[in-house]
Amino acid sequence: MFGSRLRWRRAGGVRAIAMNTEIRDWVSYWDSSHSIYVNARHADVHYRDIASAIIGLIPHRDARVLDYGCGEAVHADAVAGQSRELVLCEAAPKLRARLAQRFAHVPNISVLAPEDLKALPAACFDLIVANSVVQYVSRAELESLLALWRRLLDPEGHVVIADVIPPEVGVLSDLAALLRYALANGFFFAALVGVARTATSSYRSLRAGLGIAQYSEAEFLALLAAAGYAAERLPRNMEHNQTRMTFIAKPADVRANASAK
Ligand SMILES: C[S@@+](CC[C@H](N)C(=O)[O-])C[C@H]1O[C@@H](n2cnc3c(N)ncnc32)[C@H](O)[C@@H]1O
Repeated sequence: MFGSRLRWRRAGGVRAIAMNTEIRDWVSYWDSSHSIYVNARHADVHYRDIASAIIGLIPHRDARVLDYGCGEAVHADAVAGQSRELVLCEAAPKLRARLAQRFAHVPNISVLAPEDLKALPAACFDLIVANSVVQYVSRAELESLLALWRRLLDPEGHVVIADVIPPEVGVLSDLAALLRYALANGFFFAALVGVARTATSSYRSLRAGLGIAQYSEAEFLALLAAAGYAAERLPRNMEHNQTRMTFIAKPADVRANASAK
C-alpha cells in the first residue's frame, strides 16, 4: 500500500564497505565501535534524557516495560527503579553482552535478543518503547514487529515509537539538531569534530548504501492502524531532533470499548 512512498533506498555501496570492514548491515554497525556519540558526555546526556523520557511514560510503579532496540541504555537502572520489570531487547550481540554485564546487579532488568521475545506470553508488557529503531528496519520487519508488540502488549498498555524520520528530513537536519543539543549540553566542540567525522564515516556510507526507512505522519499512522492500534502523534519527539516524530499507540479495540462507555 505504501511501497511507492516508503523511502528505503539501496544504492549498492554496502558491498564495498563490507569488503573492508565487518559492517554488513545496521545491526553490525551498531555492534561496532562507531562514533555516533561524539564523546562520553554525549552518550551520558543522551541516555539520561531517554531514560527520563521513558520514565515519564511509565503508567504506574508496577509496570512491566520493554525497551526495544535499547542501544547502550546507560541509565536503564533509573527506568528499572520506577517499574516492576524492565526488559532490554537489543539485536547487536556485543552490545547485548555489555548490557547483561552492566546490569547484572539489577534484579528487575533482563537482557534479551529480539528472537527471545517470541517465546514470551501475551500481554506481558504495560509499556513498549522503541526510540530511534524503526528507521533501521525494513517495512516488512516493521510490520512483523508491530504484530509482535501488539501481542505482547497488555490490552491497557501502550507502545511508543519515537524518532521516526519523515521523508523530507535529511542528514543536515540531524547535524544541525546535534549541534544545538551539544551547545545546550556542554559538548559543542566535541560535536563539531564528531560532525566532521560522521561526514566521512561508515554511518554516512551505510545510510547511503543500506538505506534508511522514512515515513510521513499519515503513512506511519496508517501502518499502526493496519496493525491493530489506535495511535496518535505526540506534540514533541522523544529525542532532541524535533523534525522527527514520536507516536503513541494502544490496542485499537480497547479505545473503541472505552469510547463506547
Ligand atoms: C540509533 S540506536 C538507538 C538506541 C536507543 N534506543 C536510543 O534511544 O539511543 C538503534 C538501535 O537499534 C538496534 N536495532 C536495530 N535493528 C534492530 C532489531 N531488528 N531488533 C532489535 N534492535 C535493533 C541497534 O542495534 C541499535 O542499538
